[in-house]
Amino acid sequence: MSYSERTKKSKQLYERAGKVLPAGVSYGIRALPPYPFYLDHAEGVKLTDVDGNVYTDFWMGHGALILGHSPKPVMEAVRKQLPRGTHFGFSHENEIELAERIVKHVPSAEMVRYCASGTEANMYGTRLARAYTGRNKMLKIEGSWHGGYDSLHAYVSRPYGRLESAGLNPKTTEDTLAAPFNDLEAARKIAKNNQLACIILEPVMGAAGFLTPEPGYLEGLREICDETGALLIFDEVVTGFRLGLGGAQGYYRVTPDLTIMGKIIGGGFPIGAFVGPTEIMERIDHHKYPKPEDRSTHGGTFTGNPVSMVAGSATIDTLETGDIYRHIDGLGEKMRKNLQDIFNRSKLPATATGIGSTFATHFQDKEPKNAGDTARNDMDATRAYFTHMLEKGIIYLSPTVSHCWISSPHTMEDVEAYLQATEEFMKSYRA
Ligand SMILES: Cc1ncc(COP(=O)(O)O)c(C=O)c1O
Repeated sequence: MSYSERTKKSKQLYERAGKVLPAGVSYGIRALPPYPFYLDHAEGVKLTDVDGNVYTDFWMGHGALILGHSPKPVMEAVRKQLPRGTHFGFSHENEIELAERIVKHVPSAEMVRYCASGTEANMYGTRLARAYTGRNKMLKIEGSWHGGYDSLHAYVSRPYGRLESAGLNPKTTEDTLAAPFNDLEAARKIAKNNQLACIILEPVMGAAGFLTPEPGYLEGLREICDETGALLIFDEVVTGFRLGLGGAQGYYRVTPDLTIMGKIIGGGFPIGAFVGPTEIMERIDHHKYPKPEDRSTHGGTFTGNPVSMVAGSATIDTLETGDIYRHIDGLGEKMRKNLQDIFNRSKLPATATGIGSTFATHFQDKEPKNAGDTARNDMDATRAYFTHMLEKGIIYLSPTVSHCWISSPHTMEDVEAYLQATEEFMKSYRA
């Protein structure tokens, strides 16, 4: 049965949605072609849509659901919390408990401030870097996605340097500079010629397809920051608690000054956080810095929301106890290796990237080193692959960037089904 025959109720919902939600969705990347399926429920790694179709999920709530959909320990913690209050708007113990867990595991963290999203955490984190250094300029990486905050919403898509959104005031990005990922010399040159408040980057570039840092790159950026007085900020919204309990900074053994977090630390509920050493973080403390011009202001209605706090703590507790990283990293390694084997046997050029429990496919013969290199990806093949996988009941986002997450309920059978569907695609695809 074709997609349109299988998804009749979704089509009706899409028509209804189009009247009240622009493009029929709440986030543009969810607007699957030709129209999205609408979910009824999700459990583990299985999604069931309103027509009763079941999909194996490799998108996993934008990577937030490392324990899968509705994991037991998180559900229990949330169920216990709900009757006690969903949103206090006052201080409570659960916000201390999650912060203690983050401080225990994340090398750069001595103190934590929460936000409601990764976007907000980047906004407040970079504001803090500017407050602490007394400088305005920021260096980011071409093609990196830090959420929708105006000043970081530059150099996201090719051609880099164009206005990224209508309505974006170009003045807000005047002090935002960019260098390609894995290009230490470009970063060094910019840092030497500008008084930078910070260099901000994802240690593994998520939205470009989980591109990894070359040996010495993160260490080199650390040195550049130490030499020039800029703060090094790792955006670990994706990698935090994904590449082990210490995130990318634990994995690569490079400690940034500030770290931006989100996704996993909310256990499937909305969250963001920026964390760092006391000396920097206390710039937010209005007791120590009573004058607004000295202090970096932070706040938010839903900061420290008790449901997100208990869900996050239950997630970290579960990650601490089990063999979860061994399981998901093992499946990730098997997936990348076997994908590459399939690609090597195929006439259609393709490369697998990723690390730990992440993997991505690039339809080109070389491994991309930075987001600019992904311009060589064959877009027709990328889109056709997405459609083929969806037909096989396998879902990830986006149709133009095939990047996927493995969570603890994924099994070897799920990996094998993914590999088999890929092999079939590679054999049947005609440009
Ligand atoms: C690396 C990175 N930073 C920041 C964000 C923004 O987080 P949020 O969508 O929670 O605002 C994302 C979202 O995908 C991300 O991948």
